[in-house]
Parts: sequence; structure tokens; C-alpha cells
Amino acid sequence: MHKSVLLQEVIGGLGLKDGATVLDGTFGAGGHSAEVLKRFPDARIIALDADNGAIARGQEKFGGKISFHNSNFRNLDQVLKQAGVERVDGIILDLGLSSDQLSPPAGGFGRGFSFMKDEPLLMTFGSNGNMKENPSPEVLTAADVVNDWEEVNLEKIIRGYGEERFARKIARGIAERRKLGRIKTTADLVEVIENSVPGSYKRGRMHCATKTFQALRIAVNDELGALSEGLKKGFEVLKSDGRMAVISFHSLEDRIVKRFYREKVKEGRAIFPPKADQPRAEIRKPITASKEEIMINPRARSAKLRIIQKK
Ligand SMILES: C[S@@+](CC[C@H](N)C(=O)[O-])C[C@H]1O[C@@H](n2cnc3c(N)ncnc32)[C@H](O)[C@@H]1O
Repeated sequence: MHKSVLLQEVIGGLGLKDGATVLDGTFGAGGHSAEVLKRFPDARIIALDADNGAIARGQEKFGGKISFHNSNFRNLDQVLKQAGVERVDGIILDLGLSSDQLSPPAGGFGRGFSFMKDEPLLMTFGSNGNMKENPSPEVLTAADVVNDWEEVNLEKIIRGYGEERFARKIARGIAERRKLGRIKTTADLVEVIENSVPGSYKRGRMHCATKTFQALRIAVNDELGALSEGLKKGFEVLKSDGRMAVISFHSLEDRIVKRFYREKVKEGRAIFPPKADQPRAEIRKPITASKEEIMINPRARSAKLRIIQKK
């Protein structure tokens, strides 16, 4: 079961009022949306997720209380138009993967997000894992990237998106291995990575495939491109005094959010919101999880929450 990160900090930080309209761009298991409804039962929530499995589970759980849309948040403008909503009071983007996506749905197949299981190398958010192979050839999968991209580009994404110091060796290893036949599953890829990195790295605290898997997932879903587009479109649909809360788990994502917020403040179109207990102080720095939260949810360790308020 997915445990929501920084739940109280997000909902408190959005400064919502009764009857608020909220766009949850990353519905997942619905933890943040559920908390909005708990505190503001009259809130109108428009929930998006690129994963149709997350949307189906949400519809079952929340029924008509939330308006659900199986869409990437980079298309939030179209979704709002379709829902007949012009402006919103709050936006939540809780980036990345939900824990539910690490386990295959009942009767289905996992999508290869985890290096701990042997699954097809898909890594796409946009499918619920109920298939063995990628159903439509136009959807980019992790298997396409590792088998078809040039070695130099593989190295670039593994280093850039994974911040992996052995990117060159891993890219080389992939290029050599695929000469023998397609790399089809997560186990195939883990084997290649293990054979490419030094023994000391393989025996380290972190699994040696962690960073490469993260890099592939970011590339396959164009996560940084979607974030930049989602931030721009999200900011435009905020009402005056409306707020946007973004949780990121990766330094590249956090940098994009930080720069975007600074730019909007510099343009005079936004402010950093005041702290609830010290109205004269602004929340400029990212909000991170408490020790207690990290103890019960280790995923919270790398979470950074940034909030901005439109003028
Ligand atoms: C960390 S989970 C969200 C968890 C949720 N806030 C909760 O409390 O249960 C991220 C979710 O966002 C979805 N997602 C990631 N990037 C997306 C994008 N660009 N557009 C729409 N959904 C996205 C994933 O499919 C996943 O279900």
C-alpha cells in the first residue's frame, strides 16, 4: 500500500478554504486527495493520473466524490476544459512512482519498475501492467531505450537522470550484451549492470541497478519535460491567491521547480506563501519530512515540498 508523503504539510500549505477546487495531478493511491476531502468535505477535486490502474482504483474507492481523468498532468489544461473548470484554488503534484506500481495488479504483470522482480522492461506510467508486452508500438518502453538507443545517449541519460558514476561502463555493458540478443526483462538488465560495475559497487549499501532504473524511468516517461509543462500550465490555471504544492524526489526535478518558482516571483506574478504560525516569514526553503515520518516511511527521506502562491 502506498503511504503518502508530507500529507499534513501539503494540505496545510495549500491554505484551502471550504468549497475549494483542487487539482490533484498525481492521484496515485489518493492519499492527498482523501486528506483534502477529510478536511474540506465540500471541496471539488479533479484528479489526474497517467496510470489507468490508479484511476480505476480511485473510481472504485471514491465514486462520484472526485472527478477522475486518466491523463498526464502535462495536459491539465485540456482536462480542466473538458471538466468545465476555468481556475483552481490549489494544485498538488506528488511526483514519481507510487508504491502500488511496484507490485503487479491482481492477475496482471508488473511493468519493470523494480529491479527486485523479473518483469518485462516497460517502465511506462501510462499502462496498468495488465499485459505481458507493450501493446502499442508507438509507446516508448525501457526495452526500446536499452536495445535501440545509441551507447552515447544511454550513457548520457544514465549519468544525467540517474547521477550514476559508472554510467559509461553500464552503457558499454548494455551495448555489448545486446549484440547477443534483445534485453527483454528487468533480470536481463540487472545482470548486465552487475557485470559492468566494480565489485565494491555491487556490494555497496544501495543496489547497483537503482540509479540506472531511475534514469530509464525518467527518460521513458519524459518526466522532466512533463514537469516543466505541468508547472507552466498549472500556474496559469491557478486563481489569484491560489497555491501549487510540488513534492519532488530527485535533485533534477527539485531544480526545475525551484527555478520555475523563482522566475514567477521575479516576474512579480507570485509570492512565496507566508508561514501559518509566522505570517511575516515566507516559506522559501523546501519542506522536508520529519525524522518520525522517515522512520515509518523511508521513501520520505528524499522528498522536497515547495509551495508557491499566485498573486
Ligand atoms: C507518488 S505517486 C502519488 C501518490 C499520491 N499523492 C497519494 O498520496 O497516494 C505518483 C503518481 O503520479 C503518477 N504520475 C507520475 N507522473 C505523472 C504525470 N506526468 N502525469 C500524470 N500522472 C503522473 C504516477 O502514475 C503515480 O500514480
